[in-house]
Amino acid sequence: MNNDDISIKQKYEKYINTYSVKKMEDVVISHAEGALVYDMRGQEYLDCFAGIAVNNAGHRNPKIIQAAKEQMDKLVHCCAYVYYSEPPALLSEKLAYYTPGQLDKTFFSNSGAEAIEGSLRIAKQFTERYEFIALQCSFHGRTNATLSITGNRKRKQEGGPYLSGISFVPPPYCYRCPFELEKESCNLKCARYLREVIDFQTSGSVAAFIAEPILGEGGIIVPPQNYFQEIKKILEEFQILFIADEVQTGFGRTGKLFAIEHYEVVPDIIAMAKGIAGGFPLSAFITRDEIARSFKPGDHLSTFGGNPVSCAAAIANIDFLLEENIPEKALAKGENFILKLKNELMKKYDLIGEVRGKGLMIGIELVKDKEKTPAAEEAAKIREICRENRLLIGVGGVYGNVLRIQPPLVITEEQLERALNILDKAFSLIDKC
Ligand SMILES: Cc1ncc(COP(=O)(O)O)c(C=O)c1O
Repeated sequence: MNNDDISIKQKYEKYINTYSVKKMEDVVISHAEGALVYDMRGQEYLDCFAGIAVNNAGHRNPKIIQAAKEQMDKLVHCCAYVYYSEPPALLSEKLAYYTPGQLDKTFFSNSGAEAIEGSLRIAKQFTERYEFIALQCSFHGRTNATLSITGNRKRKQEGGPYLSGISFVPPPYCYRCPFELEKESCNLKCARYLREVIDFQTSGSVAAFIAEPILGEGGIIVPPQNYFQEIKKILEEFQILFIADEVQTGFGRTGKLFAIEHYEVVPDIIAMAKGIAGGFPLSAFITRDEIARSFKPGDHLSTFGGNPVSCAAAIANIDFLLEENIPEKALAKGENFILKLKNELMKKYDLIGEVRGKGLMIGIELVKDKEKTPAAEEAAKIREICRENRLLIGVGGVYGNVLRIQPPLVITEEQLERALNILDKAFSLIDKC
C-alpha cells in the first residue's frame, strides 16, 4: 500500500459518509480502459463488475469519450426542460426507435431510482389509481418510493415508514421456488399467483405492476421463458400497466438491447439508467404518448435530467453497441462462460449450487449443503480472494450468497478465460479452508 492509497482512504473515512456501505473494496482505482482497471500503483485488475453493470461499452470507450468531449466544448448544461438543445432531442428519437412497441416519449432524469419514481408517478396519473404490485426479491432504488416497492427486508430496514398500497408477488426464483414446485411441471404458478395478489391483497385500484426482467440485486434471478407473457395476460385483464425496470438489464447486458425483448412482451413503461451513457450519469423512462400526456404543465421536472454531455455520450454508446453487434456478442460470450462455469467449476465444487444468467449478467449461487443453506461468508471470501488475484466481481442476492459476473460487454474471450481461472483458484482455496 503506498502513501497515496493511504491518504485517499483516510480522506474517505474522514469526509465521505460511507457508514451505510457494508464494506468498501480494498482498491483505489486510478484509471481504466475496456475491461481493465488500474490502481494507483498501475496494477491491472480485470473488471467483471463494471461499476455495478454500468460500463457496457467498456471503460472510457473512445467513441463515447470523443462525443462527450466534443459536447463539452459546446455546451455542458442548460436544463433540458427549460431550453431546447440537440443531444436530448437526438437521444429521445433513438430511444423511441430502439425500444419495443409504441414507446416513444422519454422523460430524462439522473439515476435509476429517479427513473423509477417518474414511472410510478406517470402510471398513477394515467390510471388515476394509486396501488402498485412488485416482486419479492426485487430492488428498485433507495428513495422512499423505490424502497417501498423493493421486496427485500435487508434493503428496507431502518428506512420506513413506506408508502401504503404496495403488494408483492412471490418471485420467479426457480432454484428456490416459493411454492416448492419443479420448473418442468409448475405451470408457472408464480406468474398465475399475480391474480391471487390482485384479488386478495389489493383494493383493485392497481396502477402498475413493476418488475426487473432479470432480477439483479436479488441474485441474477432469470424468470422462466413464458413468465412475462402470463403476467401480461393477467395485467391486461385488470387494465394494470406493466413497468419494466431495465435499469440494470438494459443496453445489451443480457444479449438484447432491452432484456424484456427476450420475453416477447411489450411493457407500457421502461425505466433505464446504468448502462445508458457509458458511465455518464443519466436515466430515463419511456412510455406511449397516451400515457406520457397524463403529465400536465408543472407536474414533473429535473434540473440535470437530459444533460447534454450525458445525452451525447448515450448516443455514442448506443451507436457503438449496435454498430459492433455488442448485445449478440455478449449473448454468445455469456453462454460460453456459463457453460464453462457449469462444466469446469460446478462439477468440482459443491459450494456452487446454481449458475444462471443471460448474456453477461451471470450469477453463481453458493450453498453450504444439499439443503441449499446460503453460503454468504464464502461468497464474500471468494470476492476477496478474486480481488487479491486482480479480478473484480460483485456479490449480491437476497441472502448475500450470489457471485455476480457483470463485466463490460467488450470483455474478450481471453479475459473471460482469465476470470474463470482466478475463480477456479478462489474456489480451490475456499475448499481447503
Ligand atoms: C433494477 C434496479 N433498479 C433501480 C436501481 C437504482 O438505480 P440508482 O442506483 O441509479 O438509483 C438499481 C440499482 O442498482 C437497480 O439495479
